[in-house]
Formats: sequence, C-alpha cells, structure tokens
Amino acid sequence: MAEYRIFHSPRLSGEALISTAKNAVLPIMAATLLTGEECVIRRMPSLSDTLHMQALLSDCGAQVRSQEDALVVRSGAVKSPGDEELLRTMRASVLVLGPLLARNGECTFSMPGGCAIGQRPIDLHLKGLQKLGAKVETEGGMIRVTGRLQGANIYLDFPSVGATENLVMAATLSRGFTRIENAAKEPEIADLCRFLVAMGARIAGIGTNNLTVEGVEEMHGAHYTPIPDRIEAGTLACAAAMTEGSVLLQNARSDHMRALMFKLAESGVIFQEDEKGLRLRGRARRPMEVRTLSYPGFPTDMQAPLMALTTQLGGLSIFLETIFENRFMHAVELNRMGAQIRVEGQLALVQGGKSLTGAAVTATDLRAAAALMIAGLSAQGETLLHDPACHLMRGYEHLEEKLQALGAQVRQEA
Ligand code: UD1
Repeated sequence: MAEYRIFHSPRLSGEALISTAKNAVLPIMAATLLTGEECVIRRMPSLSDTLHMQALLSDCGAQVRSQEDALVVRSGAVKSPGDEELLRTMRASVLVLGPLLARNGECTFSMPGGCAIGQRPIDLHLKGLQKLGAKVETEGGMIRVTGRLQGANIYLDFPSVGATENLVMAATLSRGFTRIENAAKEPEIADLCRFLVAMGARIAGIGTNNLTVEGVEEMHGAHYTPIPDRIEAGTLACAAAMTEGSVLLQNARSDHMRALMFKLAESGVIFQEDEKGLRLRGRARRPMEVRTLSYPGFPTDMQAPLMALTTQLGGLSIFLETIFENRFMHAVELNRMGAQIRVEGQLALVQGGKSLTGAAVTATDLRAAAALMIAGLSAQGETLLHDPACHLMRGYEHLEEKLQALGAQVRQEA
C-alpha cells in the first residue's frame, strides 16, 4: 500500500533525468537466461518490477547480484520457475518462457498476472512457439511447453510486444532461420534485439515488422545499457505541459516519442531537442484526438497521463483505445476530481476546461496512477492518491521525487 498527497503546484521548471526503460530492461533481464556466461546490465532502474524479475531469474537458477548501478546475472544451469506467486504478480514473467524453452527444451509455468487492464492472454506467444516445433500442454492450471526448436515462418495476427520478444529470444537458439512477420517494432524490442546481437545472436530487420533470426549453437555473455524510458519522459512532459512549465528531460530519446510530441505540439507546446535531451515549454491549449496504436503510433501507455492533461484543455478531446479492452479505469477517478469524461466502450470523450478539485482517488493500474498524480498538480486543494497495489513503484523510478525537483508539491505518505 502506498499513498501520496498532491497539492496544486506552480509551473514545473528545471531538469529531470530520465531513467532506463522498464519495458526494455525486463525482456533484457529474461534474455540473460539464454547463456551460462555472465551478463551485465548497466543503469538499472530501481523498480519493483525489476526486483520481481530479479527474484524470478533466481527462481530459475540464475545467480543475480547488484554492482553499483548494474545487475550482474550468471545463469549456469536453468530450470522452470517454481514460485507461482512471482508469476502471478507480473505479466512480464511470461518473458522467461522463450529463453528457458530454447535453452532447456522445456518450461513449465502458471499463467502470468500484471495490471488489470484487459484479458491479456498469451495465445500469440504459444502459437508462435508451436510453429517453432514446441508442444504445449495444460494441466492443473500449469502450462508445459516442450521440444527442440526448429526455425519457421511465423505471422503474428497482432503485433504483440511480449510475443515478439518471446519468439525472437526463442529463435536465437533454434536450428535454422526464423522469420517473424507482423512483429511489433517498439523501441524496447529493437533494444532487446541489440542486446541479443551483443550476446552472439544473428538478427536482421531490427526495428522493423519483419525480423529474421538465424539460430546459433550458443550465446555468450554481454554488457549492455538499455534505452531511456519514453513513457516516463512522456509522463513528465504531460505534467509540464499541464502547468505551463519549462523543463529539460535529460537523456530523453525524442526519436522514440514522436507520436506524443506531435500531439502536444499541435496543442501548443514548444519542443527543442539538443544533445542533453528534450526541452519543452508552454502550455497545451487545444483539445486532441488520440487513437492508441502499435509503435510508431500513439502508445497505449501514454493514454492515461495524456487524458489527465486534456481535462484542462478547452473543448472536446477524444480517445480511442485500440490495444487494451479495459484501459479507461482512470476516467472514473478523474471524474471524482471534477473532470467530465464519458466512456463508451473503447471511446472516451473528455469535455475539457473544467477545474479539478482535490479528492481521494485510487490507482487501478500503473499508468492510471501516474495520470492521477499529474491531475493532482492542477487540482485546487489536496489530492490523496491511494495506490493499494503500489503500482507507481512498479514502473516509475521515484516519480514523486522527480516531480518535487521540478517544483511540484507531492509527497509520499506511506
Ligand atoms: C507490453 C508492455 C506494456 C504495453 C503493451 C502495449 C512490457 C513489459 N509491457 O505489454 O507496458 O502497454 O506492451 O504496448 O513491455 N494479446 C493477445 N494475445 C497474446 C498477447 C497479447 O491477445 O498472446 C493482446 C493483449 O491482450 C493486448 C494486446 O494484445 O490487448 C497488446 O498486448 P502486448 O503487445 O502483448 O502487450 P504486453 O507485451 O503484455
């Protein structure tokens, strides 16, 4: 249980150093299971999801230790995870499946959990692995996947991020060539591929929808620094744009944030890119129409934080969520603060320009938590944000401290 008090805040100004991307680090950590040699992941963010993944790697037989800001993993002999609780806690747990199967020829696990933002099945992961020759059996709530993998042509019905990652990892140690068509091409997937190449994998088409992997006999250790977090940078950008701030997002990769920057710029925010990162100033003013899509379209993970901002823009903003079927839970909480948001299925209509008033609100998922925190910055009075499942700590490294450094009045109570 975590709790935050947020007060109406002045214009945010100053600098924030963007942390390493959670969604890049988690698959890279899972990929260390592909070799018995030592891997070093630098600039590790301090997040509960990365701690969970660390525990999961240990549960799979890896030796894991921290060394300054790096994580050192050596996965001598690996086995299926035994701790069902760890699998249930985090959706990204499923990412150990591809590496374990490729390395050992078998993996048994229970269905992963994670944020309650939709059904989130893993059928695309399993179908892809079956294409690679794996046999999938379910018994007593457990899934057992076995077989020596053989390269194949895989077409993903939908460019799932996790399925692409699992399949590309499994393909690195499969015999022959694997082609993944309609692969997802989020920057975090390209980053995983670059780590795999550093480990000895042969991958062509990195950063595209068509990945070709030539299997190798063995992978080796590697040192790697994953990319900065585009969602953290985007969340801080929304907070700044909401308060007419002027901030430098140090280390932010603007080339990974085009869809959000385009929306904010259309609405009135001014961006400047330089070697230190991304600067923005000014206020978002005009309403927006946003459709979440796979990369390079507008990221679903930015939908909630941007919706918080649109509550303060005059006129009607429209959000169409196409990636997850239940990702508007923050709308009810924002309405508790005085926002006027109507949800119709996958569509949310935000009648903006209504003053927000601080209220007691509850975080239902990770990005909803961030949205409520930034909404609190422009609300009159005090907002008490309950985060019963500590969602914020899962995916943002000290968000409240970074906001404080920019002048926001936020404090963690518990
Ligand atoms: C990843 C990100 C998450 C982000 C999401 C979409 C990580 C650790 N998490 O999640 O932050 O919100 O991408 O950008 O990187 N689906 C199926 N069958 C499958 C797999 C997915 O139907 O086998 C559906 C899901 O239910 C969902 C959609 O596809 O509706 C997108 O899921 P996916 O791209 O796999 O997201 P994740 O990898 O879970």
